[in-house]
Amino acid sequence: MIKNKSLKKFPHDHLLGIEGLSPPDLNYLLDLSDYFAMHLDKKNTEKFKYLKNKICINLFFENSTRTRTSFELAGKKLGADMLNISVASSAIKKGETLIDTAMTLNAMQPDVLVVRHQDAGAVKLLSEKVNCGVINAGDGPHEHPTQALLDALTIKKRKGKISGLKIAICGDIMHSRVARSNIHLLNTLGAEIRVIGPATLIPKNIESLGVKVFYEMKSGLANVDIIIMLRLQLERMSGSFVPSIREYFRFYGLDREKLKFADANALILHPGPMNRGVEIDSELADDLDRSAIFEQVQMGVAVRMACLKTIVENKAKNGK
Ligand code: NCD
Repeated sequence: MIKNKSLKKFPHDHLLGIEGLSPPDLNYLLDLSDYFAMHLDKKNTEKFKYLKNKICINLFFENSTRTRTSFELAGKKLGADMLNISVASSAIKKGETLIDTAMTLNAMQPDVLVVRHQDAGAVKLLSEKVNCGVINAGDGPHEHPTQALLDALTIKKRKGKISGLKIAICGDIMHSRVARSNIHLLNTLGAEIRVIGPATLIPKNIESLGVKVFYEMKSGLANVDIIIMLRLQLERMSGSFVPSIREYFRFYGLDREKLKFADANALILHPGPMNRGVEIDSELADDLDRSAIFEQVQMGVAVRMACLKTIVENKAKNGK
């Protein structure tokens, strides 16, 4: 059993986004994730079968490597039966709508659906039609809550806190659900957030989310503790947002020279997949003293265990 008495109940049926979650909600999920992260070695695997006989369905309408596999691994560590629906071979290819697919899966009485979809708001819509718990694994450019939680856990583990840190999110802010979820989470927990990128890739009223905007790396990175680099999300761009990849790397790609603008102990994060030589220098990405990119992947499993356990148990309590 988990003995940490400070853990309080998470009062939500679904995890659709970070926006609207309170500091206690976030700390509940982060504390539980931290507990799993500390006990993730092989000898503990039998201990965590909280979701035995529960059914978890991964429904991914967009490509994914780390998010889908880490939900799958997390569910298996908790003893759940994990099903993966690959859209490429599903009835969606025959013209079935999102809602019809969801209702069909719902009829199989899963305990939780983990959904990734290319449209903002699609996962929320789906959650209104089914009677199981729903976790958003990324909806268009809108939110990616488990990515923000795993980034926060990685930061907490390396820096010991989130409150008061200066954090820069750099690159394609416009098309990034990772940026949006991180802004909500890190702001709620008291960090100071900057976004850095070319004007074409920064949404117009982003300041209203409580961030400072910088259009160049030198001033943007000054004294920051954490640098979150983002991929150019070419699949979401209609038209040309950057003059050329070479120019982009020159001005916004993170390399050793630009890293000098940040605090001497600044830590680099990237949600993956990385485009080496586009937003980040390849050799710097592999420097384990400066980059926490692989730790993020490990924290991802712990965070998804915490989210699956919490949402499935809430559903069971509410007796839906
Ligand atoms: C991110 C996503 O899908 O939004 N990746 C991820 O979940 N690991 C970021 C990206 O695709 O660049």
